[in-house]
Amino acid sequence: MAAKVKFSAVLINCLSLLIAVVAEDPYRFFEWRVTYGTISPMGVKQQGILINNMFPGPEIRAVTNDNLIINVFNELDEPFLISWAGIQNRKNSFQDGVYGTTCPIPPGKNYTYALQMKDQIGSFYYFPSLGFHKAAGGFGAIRVSSRPKIPVPFPPPADEYTVLIGDWYKTNHKDLRVQLDNGGKLPLPDRVLINGRGSGATLNVQPGKTYRLRISNVGLQNSLNFRIQNHMMKLVEVEGTHTIQNVLSSLDVHVGQSYSVLITANQPAKDYYIVVSSRFTPKVLTTTGVLHYTNSNKPVSGPIPDAPASMSWSFSQARDIRTNLTASGPRPNPQGSYHYGMVNVTRTIKLANSAGDINDKQRYAVNSASFYPADTPLKLADYFNISGVYKPGSISDQPTNIPIFPVTSVLQADHRAFVEIVFENKEDTVQSWHFDGYSFFVVGMELGEWSPASRKVYNLNDAVSRCTVQVYPRSWTAIYVALDNVGMWNLRSELWERQYLGQQLYVRVYTTSTSLRDEYRIPTNALLCGKASGHHHKGLL
Ligand SMILES: *[C@@H]1O[C@H](CO)[C@@H](O)[C@H](O)[C@H]1NC(C)=O
Ligand SMILES: *[C@@H]1O[C@H](CO)[C@@H](O)[C@H](O)[C@H]1NC(C)=O
Ligand SMILES: *[C@@H]1O[C@H](CO)[C@@H](O)[C@H](O)[C@H]1NC(C)=O
Ligand SMILES: *[C@@H]1O[C@H](CO)[C@@H](O)[C@H](O)[C@H]1NC(C)=O
Repeated sequence: MAAKVKFSAVLINCLSLLIAVVAEDPYRFFEWRVTYGTISPMGVKQQGILINNMFPGPEIRAVTNDNLIINVFNELDEPFLISWAGIQNRKNSFQDGVYGTTCPIPPGKNYTYALQMKDQIGSFYYFPSLGFHKAAGGFGAIRVSSRPKIPVPFPPPADEYTVLIGDWYKTNHKDLRVQLDNGGKLPLPDRVLINGRGSGATLNVQPGKTYRLRISNVGLQNSLNFRIQNHMMKLVEVEGTHTIQNVLSSLDVHVGQSYSVLITANQPAKDYYIVVSSRFTPKVLTTTGVLHYTNSNKPVSGPIPDAPASMSWSFSQARDIRTNLTASGPRPNPQGSYHYGMVNVTRTIKLANSAGDINDKQRYAVNSASFYPADTPLKLADYFNISGVYKPGSISDQPTNIPIFPVTSVLQADHRAFVEIVFENKEDTVQSWHFDGYSFFVVGMELGEWSPASRKVYNLNDAVSRCTVQVYPRSWTAIYVALDNVGMWNLRSELWERQYLGQQLYVRVYTTSTSLRDEYRIPTNALLCGKASGHHHKGLL
């Protein structure tokens, strides 16, 4: 059953497929085996999804513009896909690894992704996108470092640590999925994990040295607060943007979000608590890890520091996250050289989340449209001109008052449109939205209902550019996004029950041009499924 291959064979085969990817940028090759395996993050054995026997999966370390060739062998008993949250796959939504873009890898088969880290830096992660697999693992960190000659706005840290945090269930992912398929909701999570551990995760630091922590919330449901006893954190990066370096005693990380902070081991030699706790829930789950000074012989002690209680604290922390306009991003020029606040908005889209029932089963919706996957990836239907898979414009771009209805929701948008999207949340829970293929400017975030007058409070100068944003209860969040990446892109709730039960859509960023400057052709190794089975790939160029 295990497909065994020699590394060199993979290398040669892959290179021959990849003519479309710019040749001069470096290549990094990975071969991943995805299997079930026993893990015990809560001290009792349960089945997890492992990548190369690891939970969490192996970390990807790349540099801006690297090409990653990742051959994924699915040794599970179910179709499987990996998606890359925050990696933009420019001109290449075929590689996005969600069911609107890419055919699932059947059990026992493999698919080789070709991703380019084009013009990107920052902290991201990958995750399994189908079948509620994310509840079992299969996720891992991605760090994209700056090229050697591009200035980074802080001294090189002594080391960098990945901190994957997330809520966790001891229930098998298939059982959770059955509960949702049967019309139920997810129960409350059982624990919060730090780097796959329910307790005792340890980071080692040398006295006096400064470290970069890359923190991502890879969980399913809960916003989390991160803090370290007696240590302040300096915020330096959010999903690929270098920020104003605010000093924080704790940090809210909503589902799907990533942040980098610097910490300095400037306290007396001892061990300190690393604390992660769930936010805005009646029952707070708290997990601790250890910041271990290498010269310490004293275990952690003292009270575990509390999280700030109020929602307004969280709001104001979020509004204070801003771009350092003079610092470089992936390119040498300053991040502030693109004046997003001076571009004319060509379209306003308002997206309202809601919960409801379809056929007496729990569902979630965006502008009343509750997403159901089609039998064929939408991107492949487009490519092969297959009709009857979806209709562009099947979801309204404004909230409606009609009851929730089932549909394969696709919003049509023009390539190069400059769009304002207002997320309206009239529900009582924090929402978290992610847009594949893009980074967007978070221009506003307020309690209450959005109106055109709300634009007066927009930050049109130094809003942070990121790919995942929260919307507080009974509040709105507004973003600006330049639709410069042609393709079929998933816009989804990062709350995994909501995503699974319909709170997502695809944005078809469309151009009549068929130029390779705008979009790559289908990869020659693309798997075909549904109504695309039996179609033939054309030559790549
Ligand atoms: C599966 O792996 C082999 C090498 O072992 C490779 O040649 C082939 O292209 C891969 N299949 C896909 C669909 O990428
Ligand atoms: C912004 O980045 C520059 C480097 O370009 C750095 O010198 C400055 O301290 C940073 N400013 C803030 C407020 O973080
Ligand atoms: C934006 O719109 C205004 C008013 O219609 C126009 O005067 C201005 O030139 C436009 N700016 C750009 C950058 O297109
Ligand atoms: C799909 O239709 C377009 C426009 O009619 C055409 O240019 C293109 O070649 C067709 N694609 C395929 C794969 O047949």
